[in-house]
Amino acid sequence: MERSLSMELVRVTEAAAVSASRWMGRGLKNEADDAATTAMRTVFDTIPMQGIVVIGEGEMDEAPMLYIGEALGTGYGPEVDVAVDPLEGTNIVAAGGWNALAVIAIADKGNLLNAPDMYMDKIAVGPEAVGKIDIDASVTDNLYAVAKAKNKDIGDVVATVLNRERHSAIIEEIRAAGARIKLINDGDVAAAINTAFDETGVDILFGLGGAPEGVIAAVGLKCLGGEIQGRLVPSNEAEAERCKKMGIDVSKVLYMDDLVKGDDAIFAATGVTDGELLRGVQFKDGFSETHSLVMRSKSGTIRFVEGRHSMKKKPLLVMQD
Ligand code: FBP
Repeated sequence: MERSLSMELVRVTEAAAVSASRWMGRGLKNEADDAATTAMRTVFDTIPMQGIVVIGEGEMDEAPMLYIGEALGTGYGPEVDVAVDPLEGTNIVAAGGWNALAVIAIADKGNLLNAPDMYMDKIAVGPEAVGKIDIDASVTDNLYAVAKAKNKDIGDVVATVLNRERHSAIIEEIRAAGARIKLINDGDVAAAINTAFDETGVDILFGLGGAPEGVIAAVGLKCLGGEIQGRLVPSNEAEAERCKKMGIDVSKVLYMDDLVKGDDAIFAATGVTDGELLRGVQFKDGFSETHSLVMRSKSGTIRFVEGRHSMKKKPLLVMQD
């Protein structure tokens, strides 16, 4: 893949974030998602690559754009798998909450797991705890493993978990072990990525979230030298059948290389609303300001990018020639 693709992809997430952020706090999650999707799709047309959506807004008959199998890019350049989540945290934006992102992950063609839209059980950590976690071990054992790896007392460890009824046993076990918890209402991509940054104060992510989000988080953690392990959790017969058809054994743990193969992948995210790592979009004096993270696994380069965009000259964040 060309190195310059990283910066090109930030333009895509910036556009999606600016468009979605207009809907912040307005209680309209679908409108926010549509705005992000349309903006993302528009800017993708300018990116020099031959991309195919492997994780997107749904199957071709359900989604008008960014559907699975859709070709993206100018049609010239590297052949890549594309995973998009134009708005990760639709409810977050609707409520004006924390950690909504516009996010993209790409890898060489054939290297991203085409994760079906169902739950995935996940455990994720940053670089210091790589190789120390085990999705099949107890929550308590994993917390102690992370504490040891990070040279912390168990009471200093912070686990993050989606605040869902299905996680009550995990939450109870974390409390019983004496670790601290950050319960989140949505947004487990940001939560997984946050485990790799000390300043977020989060050490480990546990629990079930979307499988597509699991693959996107895996690309981010690959770039950061972190780790995520997952296991698909079909909720019904149809989902179990779908996994079978795709040749995925749901009893198998999905490790980093199952989620994203090879050593060249790029992750780009722009904050839509404020989060621990990225600020949300601000509008002022006819400009929008964006804060993004872009990373490439091959080089290990991590960039934080601040953008200031003239809403007069580029209302959709693409030049209208
Ligand atoms: P959306 O942006 O599609 O609303 O997803 C938000 C999210 O919180 C993800 O981050 C997470 O993986 C998933 O939803 C959890 O699903 P559920 O809300 O069913 O628990």
